[in-house]
Amino acid sequence: MTTSPIGRIGRETDRVDGPLKAAGGARYAADHQPEGLLHAHLVQATVGRGSVRRVDVSRAEAAPGVVAVFTPFRPLPLNPPSPQQSGENYSALQDTAVRFRGQVIGLVVADTPERARDAAALVSADYAVTPSRTSLADGSPGVAQGVVQKLADGVPSIDAALAASPVTVTTSVSQHAQHHIAMEPHATTAVWVDDHLTVYTGAQAPQRAAATIAARLGVDPAKVRVLCRYTGGGFGQRSPVWNEALLCAAAARALGRPVKVVLSREQVFTAIGHRGAVRQTIRLGADTDGRLLALSHESDGELPAAGGWQMMPGRDTSAVMYRTPNIRIDQRLVTLDTPPTWSMRAPAEAPGMFALETAMDELSVRTGVDPVELRLRNHATEDPVEGRPFSSKHLEECYRVGAERFGWSGRRARPRSRTDGDWLVGTGMASAIYPAWRQSATARVRFGDDGRVTVSSATSDLGTGSFTVLAVVGADELGVPVGSVDAEVGDSALPPGGVGAYGSSVTTSTVPAVQAACRAAVEALVRAAVENPRSPFAGLDPAAVRYRRGRVEARGRSVDFRTLLHAMGVPLVEAVGATDPNTTSPYRFHCFGAHFCEVRVHRLTGEPRVARFTSVFDVGRVVNAKAARSQLRGSIIWGVGHALLEADPIEPDGRFAAATMADYLVPVHADTPEIDVHWLDHPDPHISEFGARGLGEIGLVSVAAAIGNAVFDATGTRVHDLPITLDKLL
Ligand code: MOS
Repeated sequence: MTTSPIGRIGRETDRVDGPLKAAGGARYAADHQPEGLLHAHLVQATVGRGSVRRVDVSRAEAAPGVVAVFTPFRPLPLNPPSPQQSGENYSALQDTAVRFRGQVIGLVVADTPERARDAAALVSADYAVTPSRTSLADGSPGVAQGVVQKLADGVPSIDAALAASPVTVTTSVSQHAQHHIAMEPHATTAVWVDDHLTVYTGAQAPQRAAATIAARLGVDPAKVRVLCRYTGGGFGQRSPVWNEALLCAAAARALGRPVKVVLSREQVFTAIGHRGAVRQTIRLGADTDGRLLALSHESDGELPAAGGWQMMPGRDTSAVMYRTPNIRIDQRLVTLDTPPTWSMRAPAEAPGMFALETAMDELSVRTGVDPVELRLRNHATEDPVEGRPFSSKHLEECYRVGAERFGWSGRRARPRSRTDGDWLVGTGMASAIYPAWRQSATARVRFGDDGRVTVSSATSDLGTGSFTVLAVVGADELGVPVGSVDAEVGDSALPPGGVGAYGSSVTTSTVPAVQAACRAAVEALVRAAVENPRSPFAGLDPAAVRYRRGRVEARGRSVDFRTLLHAMGVPLVEAVGATDPNTTSPYRFHCFGAHFCEVRVHRLTGEPRVARFTSVFDVGRVVNAKAARSQLRGSIIWGVGHALLEADPIEPDGRFAAATMADYLVPVHADTPEIDVHWLDHPDPHISEFGARGLGEIGLVSVAAAIGNAVFDATGTRVHDLPITLDKLL
């Protein structure tokens, strides 16, 4: 039995879900309209911290179409989260505490969304207010989360190593809260049929979401199904289940009718997780040739009292990136009364590498060593803390190819030395790194009597292209056209063991499972062909029967699987495949990249513009070149936002300063430069037989540093507080 790859891997493949999405046929969480549907709207706290003394619901209850108003004084029962469940550390409406401004303190249910929203505006609350802690500065240094340190023999401390270094650089950087802003606002439609609950809600991990909802509502997990076949972006914010989904399901249970909650755009900013604010200090010690002798990375990250994701910006950046005999990573968390934080695309790596790569650029300026050369001199073949080798690392090639494509060799060493009319012109570069996470995964492959193959796995496609990855890999493994393969994701009822769509790990983890499932399905098909008495191959030795390109063949006879299934009177043959990555691997798995960019800063207005961007990545094997390029390009565009636009300061009363898309700026086409994305073709021999490492997040890492370094080259001004806005360049 052999399979016959069709050679689709690594080529340009259109999204299999593209036509349906373009035609408006893909249904998202809020597109479901079950019979008897009610609509709910969240009521949010308007003070930063304290407690709700009284809620006046009389006007809301009297408003047209209102069915129910739930508050802490008329709660919907929810269990508290277990410490293992990610997200907020409390359940809404179960007590009167206000943990942050924007916390859900009520749910208004009505017959239309407009009536629910209007009535929600009629709910008023009295509060006992206590002062909010909202500033990282006030709480720094925060509580250490375990210091990572490695010192050379005889070196007493990192401070001593730094003091003994001929050249030292200290760089402190900061950034405010940032927001995910998925294209699809968070929404949930909950339907109970008897004691079975179906929840339509965007989820990065549908099976984990179903388990969470079951636990919080106190129902049998086997009776909860989460469906999120189409999901309009996640970026980390759809990893946990937020209170809106829990309250929606609880309200539907209480009222005996389906309920839908759609967050307003402002509620997406204020009620659910953001990337926490963080301040970092990098101290580098080096010899006069720029070789690192010591590296210290300290951070103070926001950790809301209401719970959230813990920002560890040194862990997968400075602790891995360069060779150095002395290193210390001290990551601290500061408790604040802010809305919950959650991981946001390259969650710690984007801020962490902004800090490190800005400091490296300052070291380059101090030593006069070209930024690329400086990084080559500090290239690591193993991580500097544990001394483990990388599974596959071609970062030097990324620098070389990137420098060539960009034209780096013509760079001048002196900042503010190039102009074009009224524009100051500068170039900058930075290294990128992101861990290659592997999860154990399960997939199912089915031959159907309609001639189609179905590849399923209970992960999510957040717009990332997972449908197409499953279809391409299934088609390649089975030797059938991509067009004859259907991919299924986004359903907790698919075989257990689906992976969460986070950590850039879906392709890395799921592809080996799909391959295993394909092989198992082929075996099952051949077995059926020799065992089924109606089969033309009945009674043959399975070893004499082979599967090839969708056909079963033996003794000069070749039958396609559709015809075979019809002959046997069997509607389908399917099998499940699973993989469990070897967690005891001696290797460290990381993706790498090198960014190069040209920035222009207006001499009179200080306006910074990114003119062109070149990035080269080392991400292992790529499944779909078209989707990969889009992913990487999208990340780089996000990096332009990280560098130049995105920030949401929190005011002393806990209010976000920019909680709308009019105030919180993200890059638009006019902000987007010409982007040249390239990747090397080096399958990772250790991560899996297939060799893919995943590329969802690496593209964003260090983009802000490359831009900041180019801004320095253009202007001679180093901006340490993101975003780099024109007021900081005048
Ligand atoms: Mo991503 S921040 O790993 O969902």
